[in-house]
Amino acid sequence: MAELGIVIPAAGQGKRMGAEGNKQFLSLRGQPILVHTVRVFQMSDCVSEIVIVGAENDLALIKDLVIRYKLDKVARICQGGVQRQDSVRLGVLALSSTIQRVVVHDGARPLLTLKDFHRFLQAAEGFTAATMGIQVKDTIKQINDFGCVTDTLPRERLRAVQTPQIFERQTLEAAHLRAASNGYYGTDDASLLEWMGYPVQVIEGSQENIKVTTPEDLWLAERILTMRET
Ligand code: CTP
Ligand code: MG
Repeated sequence: MAELGIVIPAAGQGKRMGAEGNKQFLSLRGQPILVHTVRVFQMSDCVSEIVIVGAENDLALIKDLVIRYKLDKVARICQGGVQRQDSVRLGVLALSSTIQRVVVHDGARPLLTLKDFHRFLQAAEGFTAATMGIQVKDTIKQINDFGCVTDTLPRERLRAVQTPQIFERQTLEAAHLRAASNGYYGTDDASLLEWMGYPVQVIEGSQENIKVTTPEDLWLAERILTMRET
């Protein structure tokens, strides 16, 4: 099997959480969110190395956590950029040259299970690019500048996209470098490959794989973890 590297963008500011400092260090059932996130990949036999991308002021704290929680697959902790896409690009460039496939997973998604990660890897086998995505529960409407509906999109064709996302390393690196030199920003990494004309496969994700964005998400994440433990 191709050597697999993990890039964890964790260099955001967590503004919507409104907490002091980076939301990724907030505690979830006694451990920092970022530790929950990284541990899944630490535990997986499929993973060769992990790169964590952090904000300049958080680098020392991330290093402490890596040592304290014995996350020894973390090969590098590198400094992020202004946008998430900049952080991912810097993380991908920091991977060892032997890495052939890359998984990008948000530092703020601590509820991915090992089982779902392995199911994802298996389903993504043979695709240049794949992402987890879930069916949307609400009807999604497109509106114009005045809030008036211009279209109601067919729900069975819509997916709310999550991470993990997986890519051939060379293709992801090329897409990021081309996007950077063109000043193109997509809302996720898969969209950079779409922009280059590559197909992206969507693999059914999990409703529990939430991104901790606002205080309600933290509450929900605690409830999900508690439910798993009982
Ligand atoms: N991220 C990053 N570098 C940035 C911005 C975001 O590595 N310049 C990371 C975040 O740390 C997070 C993930 O990308 O793990 C998803 O981003 P988001 O949930 O938006 O986190 P923040 O940007 O930190 O939050 P906010 O947008 O509320 O400030
Ligand atoms: Mg953000």
